[in-house]
Amino acid sequence: MAFSDEFLEELRDRNDIEGVISSYVNLKRQGKLLKGLCPFHNEKTPSFTVYPDTRSFYCFGCGAGGEVITFIRRIENLDYVEAIKLLADRAGLQMPNDGYDDSLAKHRQRLLAANREAARFFHASLMSPKGKTALDYFLNRGLSMSTIKHFGLGYAPDSWDSLISHLKSKGFSLAEMFDANLVKRSERDGKTRYYDNFRNRVMTPIIDLRGNVIAFGGRVLDDSKPKYINTSDTLVYKKTDNVFALNFAKNGNPGSLILAEGYMDVIALHQAGFTNAVASLGTALTREQASLISRYTEEVIISYDADEAGQEATQKAIRIFSETGLKVRVLRLEGGKDPDEIIKKHGKERYKALLDGAANDIEYGILKIRNKYDIAFPDGKMGFLNEATDLLAGCNDIELDIYSGRLSQELEVDKTAIVNEAKKKRARRRSNERKNAFEEIKRTAITPKDEINPQRKQFVRAARAEDILLSSLINNPDFFDQLRNRLLPETFLTDFNKRVYSSLYSRLNEGLSIDLSVFAGEFTPEENGRIAKFVAMKKEISNTLNECFDCIKVLEEEKQKHNSVDPANASDDEFMSFFRKKSN
Ligand code: CTP
Ligand code: MN
Repeated sequence: MAFSDEFLEELRDRNDIEGVISSYVNLKRQGKLLKGLCPFHNEKTPSFTVYPDTRSFYCFGCGAGGEVITFIRRIENLDYVEAIKLLADRAGLQMPNDGYDDSLAKHRQRLLAANREAARFFHASLMSPKGKTALDYFLNRGLSMSTIKHFGLGYAPDSWDSLISHLKSKGFSLAEMFDANLVKRSERDGKTRYYDNFRNRVMTPIIDLRGNVIAFGGRVLDDSKPKYINTSDTLVYKKTDNVFALNFAKNGNPGSLILAEGYMDVIALHQAGFTNAVASLGTALTREQASLISRYTEEVIISYDADEAGQEATQKAIRIFSETGLKVRVLRLEGGKDPDEIIKKHGKERYKALLDGAANDIEYGILKIRNKYDIAFPDGKMGFLNEATDLLAGCNDIELDIYSGRLSQELEVDKTAIVNEAKKKRARRRSNERKNAFEEIKRTAITPKDEINPQRKQFVRAARAEDILLSSLINNPDFFDQLRNRLLPETFLTDFNKRVYSSLYSRLNEGLSIDLSVFAGEFTPEENGRIAKFVAMKKEISNTLNECFDCIKVLEEEKQKHNSVDPANASDDEFMSFFRKKSN
């Protein structure tokens, strides 16, 4: 990807990494570094680190890392060129006119434009005479005109091609409509036929955090099946990564977010003034969604349907949220099957009261267990206490004190007995966890698994030496003068590290500077994570030329060993060098 060094440098200068990342992650300064909770995996203690001096970031928990462009690629789900565009926009920089391939970026823009146009078309259809039944449907469900407008709700006419003709008239191709999942195609008699994906359905657009229409949910107007047709995953939409209505709910820094099950619940909640409601998109809550939610709030209140499926989903969601450090409360619906129905039947005050009374996750857990036992009998009491102490074993001391107190009163059982039992279980659990962690370390130490550099398994010792060399050079580029003659790309044994070094080597040979953004265009975001690790490794290595020479020696020895052992399995390069050695 050929952006000029000058352009990339200016882009970097105008988008300081600390400023860019802190608009996504809450960073705290620790000396020269900044630390925060990693936005790429769920964690409770910060291992995500930003290094302003090397303009890089690295997460010790999940290995994500790189410079500012890679950060944007990952967090916004963009390709290289799109990420650069976003940063250029942010800094008010003009993009260079040529020299890069932005066909993918352009295609994505077209899909977004097609979606936006489709949303306009659906909304206009809802307001037109042919949309009367659909509009009545919404109005009968209690939605106001202003809610309908706010959410951009619409109607897909009962036709096979009304959207196709509309989008054609606006200049969109069938391929674009197909890639946006707005139309489907079938093959018959050797002919390809295209038809509208959404027909005779009320339409809810799904809007991302930057205001793009990325997908739709289409509901039938009656009880027929399937109840919903949703946009499947496309270039601009991944349902497991998005949260419905977060674009609205995130405004005004909500102290908490309400997580409901359905589009209709969220829309009804917003209309009733609960503008902090969101929903996962017709899937069980995913880790990605939980971690997205945790970027915008401190507390989540789960408000799923009252039925069994809803309650099971609640338990799963609690488990997923427990990895994020978010405060979790659970609202128990009484007097209706879902939030929409509660508000309609009993008014928003009732929902507000339920919200205020929402139990935290421990209370909710205890309640669930209590429902399983008849505590009027000793057996029931024992069963209840047994499970309740399992739950309390996972709590901190303050929580343990509070809930054992309550249980002791309710069951007329000695409080210390409950506390001791919970603590015993906690100790057992911790010792098991330690044992498992130890087993895991042992296992991975024997066969180190490395997806970025899979050859590490084969060349454990060499790979380690290569890592140290790369870290030394990236952190001390002035070493290169002393090393250049003995350290060639061919000196490396593993392909990944060889690629990284080749890139370094050609730049350093030309006297160019080394900055991580050099790698951003050439390597995947995951690979950039490894390169950022080389930067972060600075603390673990001695940063001396002597250490580098020792590592080169290791590589030479390992190469020798490898070549003499098994020429049959050698790569072409290695085989040639083997051959040369023999004939000399
Ligand atoms: N859903 C889906 N496909 C289905 C059923 C449900 O994708 N066949 C998803 C939708 O995102 C829906 C959510 O699951 O919003 C919750 O389902 P449900 O409660 O059935 O739908 P509601 O939107 O609440 O609709 P209604 O109030 O009209 O029943
Ligand atoms: Mn529902």
